[in-house]
Amino acid sequence: MPLPDGERPRRVLVTGAAKRIGRAIVVELFRRGFQVAIHYNHSRDEALEAASECGNAPIFQADLSRVPEIRRLFREIRDEFGPLQFLVNNAARFTRFDPLKIEESDWDDIHSVNLKAVFFCCQEAARQMTDGEGGRIVNISSLGGIRPWAEHAHYCASKAGVIMLTRALAKAFAPRITVNSVAPGVILASEAEPEAAAMIKATPVKRAGKPEEVAEAVHFFLTAPDFITGQVLAVDGGLSQR
Ligand SMILES: NC(=O)c1ccc[n+]([C@@H]2O[C@H](COP(=O)([O-])OP(=O)(O)OC[C@H]3O[C@@H](n4cnc5c(N)ncnc54)[C@H](OP(=O)(O)O)[C@@H]3O)[C@@H](O)[C@H]2O)c1
Repeated sequence: MPLPDGERPRRVLVTGAAKRIGRAIVVELFRRGFQVAIHYNHSRDEALEAASECGNAPIFQADLSRVPEIRRLFREIRDEFGPLQFLVNNAARFTRFDPLKIEESDWDDIHSVNLKAVFFCCQEAARQMTDGEGGRIVNISSLGGIRPWAEHAHYCASKAGVIMLTRALAKAFAPRITVNSVAPGVILASEAEPEAAAMIKATPVKRAGKPEEVAEAVHFFLTAPDFITGQVLAVDGGLSQR
Protein backbone atom coordinates (compact mmCIF):
# COMPACT_ATOMS: atom_id res chain seq x y z
CA MET A 1 0.00 0.00 0.00
CA PRO A 2 1.27 3.51 -0.73
CA LEU A 3 2.81 5.63 2.00
CA PRO A 4 3.58 8.70 -0.12
CA ASP A 5 5.95 11.52 0.80
CA GLY A 6 4.37 14.09 3.08
CA GLU A 7 1.86 11.79 4.81
CA ARG A 8 2.08 11.14 8.55
CA PRO A 9 3.07 9.15 10.50
CA ARG A 10 6.48 8.39 9.01
CA ARG A 11 8.43 6.75 11.82
CA VAL A 12 11.69 5.12 10.72
CA LEU A 13 14.33 3.12 12.56
CA VAL A 14 17.85 3.09 11.12
CA THR A 15 20.14 0.45 12.63
CA GLY A 16 23.82 1.25 13.17
CA ALA A 17 22.99 4.93 12.71
CA ALA A 18 25.55 6.52 15.04
CA LYS A 19 28.32 6.81 12.44
CA ARG A 20 29.34 6.73 8.82
CA ILE A 21 26.72 5.53 6.28
CA GLY A 22 23.97 4.91 8.85
CA ARG A 23 24.45 8.43 10.23
CA ALA A 24 24.18 9.91 6.73
CA ILE A 25 20.97 7.92 6.15
CA VAL A 26 19.32 9.01 9.38
CA VAL A 27 20.28 12.66 8.89
CA GLU A 28 18.97 12.64 5.31
CA LEU A 29 15.68 11.03 6.35
CA PHE A 30 15.25 13.57 9.15
CA ARG A 31 15.95 16.40 6.68
CA ARG A 32 13.25 14.94 4.41
CA GLY A 33 10.65 15.00 7.18
CA PHE A 34 10.80 11.51 8.72
CA GLN A 35 10.55 10.97 12.47
CA VAL A 36 13.78 9.06 13.06
CA ALA A 37 14.89 6.59 15.73
CA ILE A 38 18.63 6.00 15.99
CA HIS A 39 19.92 2.56 16.87
CA TYR A 40 23.49 2.00 18.11
CA ASN A 41 25.43 -0.73 19.87
CA HIS A 42 28.73 0.63 21.28
CA SER A 43 28.79 4.17 19.83
CA ARG A 44 26.64 6.00 22.37
CA ASP A 45 28.45 9.36 22.12
CA GLU A 46 28.18 9.38 18.32
CA ALA A 47 24.52 8.30 18.58
CA LEU A 48 23.86 11.31 20.82
CA GLU A 49 25.60 13.56 18.27
CA ALA A 50 23.45 12.08 15.50
CA ALA A 51 20.36 12.61 17.68
CA SER A 52 21.20 16.28 18.11
CA GLU A 53 21.55 16.60 14.31
CA CYS A 54 18.06 15.09 14.05
CA GLY A 55 16.06 17.34 16.39
CA ASN A 56 16.94 15.35 19.53
CA ALA A 57 15.66 12.11 18.06
CA PRO A 58 15.47 9.12 20.42
CA ILE A 59 18.38 6.67 20.58
CA PHE A 60 18.05 2.95 21.27
CA GLN A 61 20.87 0.53 22.19
CA ALA A 62 20.96 -3.15 21.27
CA ASP A 63 23.45 -5.85 20.31
CA LEU A 64 21.75 -7.13 17.16
CA SER A 65 23.76 -10.37 17.13
CA ARG A 66 21.36 -11.59 19.85
CA VAL A 67 17.73 -12.19 18.90
CA PRO A 68 16.35 -11.49 22.44
CA GLU A 69 18.01 -8.05 22.20
CA ILE A 70 16.30 -7.46 18.85
CA ARG A 71 12.93 -8.36 20.39
CA ARG A 72 13.58 -5.99 23.32
CA LEU A 73 14.68 -3.21 20.95
CA PHE A 74 11.48 -3.36 18.91
CA ARG A 75 9.33 -3.49 22.05
CA GLU A 76 11.04 -0.36 23.36
CA ILE A 77 10.64 1.37 20.02
CA ARG A 78 6.93 0.56 19.82
CA ASP A 79 6.29 1.68 23.39
CA GLU A 80 8.52 4.77 23.54
CA PHE A 81 8.62 6.01 19.92
CA GLY A 82 5.53 4.46 18.35
CA PRO A 83 4.94 1.68 15.82
CA LEU A 84 7.24 1.80 12.81
CA GLN A 85 6.20 2.36 9.21
CA PHE A 86 9.80 2.27 7.92
CA LEU A 87 12.97 0.28 8.69
CA VAL A 88 16.50 0.59 7.33
CA ASN A 89 18.73 -2.38 8.19
CA ASN A 90 22.19 -0.81 7.96
CA ALA A 91 24.21 -2.26 10.87
CA ALA A 92 26.82 -4.79 9.80
CA ARG A 93 30.25 -6.21 10.44
CA PHE A 94 33.12 -6.40 7.95
CA THR A 95 36.21 -8.58 8.42
CA ARG A 96 38.93 -9.96 6.16
CA PHE A 97 40.05 -13.60 6.36
CA ASP A 98 41.83 -16.11 4.21
CA PRO A 99 38.97 -18.64 3.72
CA LEU A 100 41.41 -21.45 4.61
CA LYS A 101 41.90 -19.90 8.05
CA ILE A 102 38.40 -18.82 8.98
CA GLU A 103 37.00 -20.31 12.21
CA GLU A 104 33.40 -21.06 13.10
CA SER A 105 33.34 -18.09 15.46
CA ASP A 106 34.51 -15.75 12.65
CA TRP A 107 31.75 -17.05 10.41
CA ASP A 108 29.11 -16.66 13.14
CA ASP A 109 30.39 -13.21 14.06
CA ILE A 110 29.61 -11.94 10.55
CA HIS A 111 26.41 -13.87 9.89
CA SER A 112 24.81 -13.12 13.27
CA VAL A 113 24.73 -9.39 12.46
CA ASN A 114 24.80 -9.19 8.67
CA LEU A 115 22.12 -11.80 7.95
CA LYS A 116 20.39 -13.25 11.01
CA ALA A 117 19.79 -9.83 12.57
CA VAL A 118 18.49 -8.44 9.28
CA PHE A 119 15.91 -11.23 9.16
CA PHE A 120 14.72 -10.80 12.75
CA CYS A 121 14.63 -6.99 12.47
CA CYS A 122 12.50 -7.39 9.31
CA GLN A 123 10.21 -9.81 11.17
CA GLU A 124 9.77 -7.51 14.19
CA ALA A 125 9.24 -4.42 12.03
CA ALA A 126 6.77 -6.23 9.77
CA ARG A 127 4.69 -7.21 12.81
CA GLN A 128 4.38 -3.52 13.74
CA MET A 129 3.75 -2.49 10.14
CA THR A 130 1.02 -5.05 9.46
CA ASP A 131 -0.77 -3.99 12.66
CA GLY A 132 -0.87 -0.51 11.10
CA GLU A 133 -0.98 0.78 7.56
CA GLY A 134 1.87 -1.26 6.08
CA GLY A 135 5.38 -0.04 5.48
CA ARG A 136 8.68 0.04 3.68
CA ILE A 137 11.89 -1.85 4.49
CA VAL A 138 15.33 -1.22 3.00
CA ASN A 139 18.16 -3.66 3.65
CA ILE A 140 21.69 -2.42 3.02
CA SER A 141 23.54 -5.21 1.24
CA SER A 142 26.82 -4.68 -0.65
CA LEU A 143 28.56 -4.99 -3.95
CA GLY A 144 30.16 -7.94 -2.13
CA GLY A 145 26.78 -9.68 -2.31
CA ILE A 146 26.86 -9.37 -6.10
CA ARG A 147 30.56 -9.81 -6.92
CA PRO A 148 32.92 -12.27 -5.19
CA TRP A 149 35.81 -10.97 -3.07
CA ALA A 150 38.32 -13.72 -2.23
CA GLU A 151 39.30 -12.57 1.27
CA HIS A 152 35.73 -11.72 2.19
CA ALA A 153 34.00 -14.98 1.24
CA HIS A 154 32.11 -15.06 4.56
CA TYR A 155 31.03 -11.41 4.21
CA CYS A 156 30.06 -11.89 0.54
CA ALA A 157 27.93 -14.89 1.50
CA SER A 158 26.17 -12.90 4.22
CA LYS A 159 25.41 -10.01 1.86
CA ALA A 160 24.26 -12.32 -0.95
CA GLY A 161 21.97 -13.74 1.73
CA VAL A 162 20.64 -10.22 2.41
CA ILE A 163 19.79 -9.85 -1.27
CA MET A 164 17.86 -13.13 -1.42
CA LEU A 165 16.21 -12.39 1.93
CA THR A 166 15.06 -9.07 0.47
CA ARG A 167 13.53 -10.81 -2.54
CA ALA A 168 11.87 -13.56 -0.50
CA LEU A 169 10.46 -11.15 2.08
CA ALA A 170 9.20 -8.83 -0.66
CA LYS A 171 7.03 -11.75 -1.75
CA ALA A 172 6.11 -12.80 1.78
CA PHE A 173 5.18 -9.30 3.00
CA ALA A 174 3.35 -8.11 -0.14
CA PRO A 175 1.12 -6.26 -0.66
CA ARG A 176 1.31 -4.21 2.54
CA ILE A 177 5.09 -3.91 2.93
CA THR A 178 7.76 -3.38 0.31
CA VAL A 179 11.26 -4.76 0.84
CA ASN A 180 14.18 -3.51 -1.25
CA SER A 181 17.94 -3.41 -0.98
CA VAL A 182 20.65 -0.84 -1.61
CA ALA A 183 24.03 -2.37 -2.48
CA PRO A 184 26.87 0.11 -1.90
CA GLY A 185 30.15 -0.20 -3.77
CA VAL A 186 33.21 1.62 -2.40
CA ILE A 187 31.93 4.33 -0.08
CA LEU A 188 34.41 6.52 1.75
CA ALA A 189 32.63 7.12 5.01
CA SER A 190 35.53 8.53 7.02
CA GLU A 191 39.24 9.02 6.38
CA ALA A 192 40.81 7.64 3.18
CA GLU A 193 40.86 3.84 3.35
CA PRO A 194 44.05 2.67 1.55
CA GLU A 195 42.71 -0.80 0.66
CA ALA A 196 39.88 0.88 -1.31
CA ALA A 197 42.32 2.45 -3.82
CA ALA A 198 42.38 -0.48 -6.27
CA MET A 199 38.60 -0.73 -6.29
CA ILE A 200 38.23 3.02 -6.83
CA LYS A 201 40.60 2.72 -9.79
CA ALA A 202 38.42 -0.06 -11.21
CA THR A 203 35.20 1.94 -10.70
CA PRO A 204 33.91 3.27 -14.03
CA VAL A 205 33.10 6.72 -12.60
CA LYS A 206 36.65 6.86 -11.14
CA ARG A 207 35.81 7.89 -7.62
CA ALA A 208 34.50 6.50 -4.35
CA GLY A 209 30.87 7.03 -3.42
CA LYS A 210 29.66 9.25 -0.61
CA PRO A 211 27.44 8.13 2.29
CA GLU A 212 24.92 10.77 1.18
CA GLU A 213 24.59 8.97 -2.17
CA VAL A 214 23.62 5.75 -0.36
CA ALA A 215 21.14 7.79 1.70
CA GLU A 216 19.55 9.13 -1.53
CA ALA A 217 18.94 5.58 -2.75
CA VAL A 218 17.44 4.58 0.61
CA HIS A 219 15.11 7.57 0.51
CA PHE A 220 14.05 6.58 -3.01
CA PHE A 221 12.90 3.13 -1.87
CA LEU A 222 11.23 4.44 1.28
CA THR A 223 9.08 6.81 -0.77
CA ALA A 224 8.71 4.71 -3.94
CA PRO A 225 5.37 3.27 -5.10
CA ASP A 226 4.47 -0.16 -3.72
CA PHE A 227 4.90 -1.58 -7.23
CA ILE A 228 8.68 -1.37 -6.62
CA THR A 229 9.57 -4.27 -4.33
CA GLY A 230 12.18 -7.03 -4.15
CA GLN A 231 14.69 -4.86 -6.01
CA VAL A 232 18.41 -4.28 -5.52
CA LEU A 233 19.91 -0.92 -6.40
CA ALA A 234 23.71 -0.86 -6.64
CA VAL A 235 25.20 2.50 -5.65
CA ASP A 236 28.65 1.69 -6.94
CA GLY A 237 29.72 4.00 -9.75
CA GLY A 238 29.16 1.15 -12.20
CA LEU A 239 31.60 -1.28 -10.57
CA SER A 240 29.09 -4.15 -10.59
CA GLN A 241 28.89 -3.87 -14.39
CA ARG A 242 32.53 -4.75 -14.91
N1 LIG B 1 31.60 1.41 3.71
C1 LIG B 1 31.50 0.79 2.54
O1 LIG B 1 32.29 1.07 1.59
C2 LIG B 1 30.43 -0.24 2.29
C3 LIG B 1 30.46 -0.98 1.10
C4 LIG B 1 29.48 -1.93 0.89
C5 LIG B 1 28.47 -2.13 1.82
N2 LIG B 1 28.47 -1.40 2.95
C6 LIG B 1 27.37 -1.64 3.89
O2 LIG B 1 26.78 -0.41 4.28
C7 LIG B 1 26.37 -0.46 5.65
C8 LIG B 1 27.06 0.65 6.43
O3 LIG B 1 28.47 0.58 6.19
P1 LIG B 1 29.49 1.30 7.19
O4 LIG B 1 30.84 1.10 6.60
O5 LIG B 1 29.01 2.66 7.54
O6 LIG B 1 29.30 0.32 8.46
P2 LIG B 1 30.17 0.16 9.79
O7 LIG B 1 30.69 1.49 10.20
O8 LIG B 1 31.16 -0.94 9.60
O9 LIG B 1 29.05 -0.38 10.80
C9 LIG B 1 27.85 0.32 11.02
C10 LIG B 1 27.38 0.09 12.42
O10 LIG B 1 26.97 -1.26 12.60
C11 LIG B 1 26.83 -1.41 13.99
N3 LIG B 1 26.98 -2.79 14.45
C12 LIG B 1 27.99 -3.66 14.20
N4 LIG B 1 27.81 -4.78 14.92
C13 LIG B 1 26.66 -4.63 15.62
C14 LIG B 1 25.94 -5.42 16.56
N5 LIG B 1 26.37 -6.63 16.97
N6 LIG B 1 24.81 -4.93 17.07
C15 LIG B 1 24.36 -3.72 16.71
N7 LIG B 1 24.98 -2.91 15.85
C16 LIG B 1 26.13 -3.36 15.32
C17 LIG B 1 27.90 -0.55 14.65
O11 LIG B 1 27.27 0.20 15.70
P3 LIG B 1 28.12 0.79 16.97
O12 LIG B 1 29.23 1.62 16.36
O13 LIG B 1 27.11 1.61 17.70
O14 LIG B 1 28.62 -0.37 17.77
C18 LIG B 1 28.42 0.32 13.49
O15 LIG B 1 28.54 1.69 13.81
C19 LIG B 1 26.74 -1.86 6.15
O16 LIG B 1 25.62 -2.71 6.00
C20 LIG B 1 27.85 -2.29 5.20
O17 LIG B 1 27.99 -3.68 5.07
C21 LIG B 1 29.43 -0.47 3.22
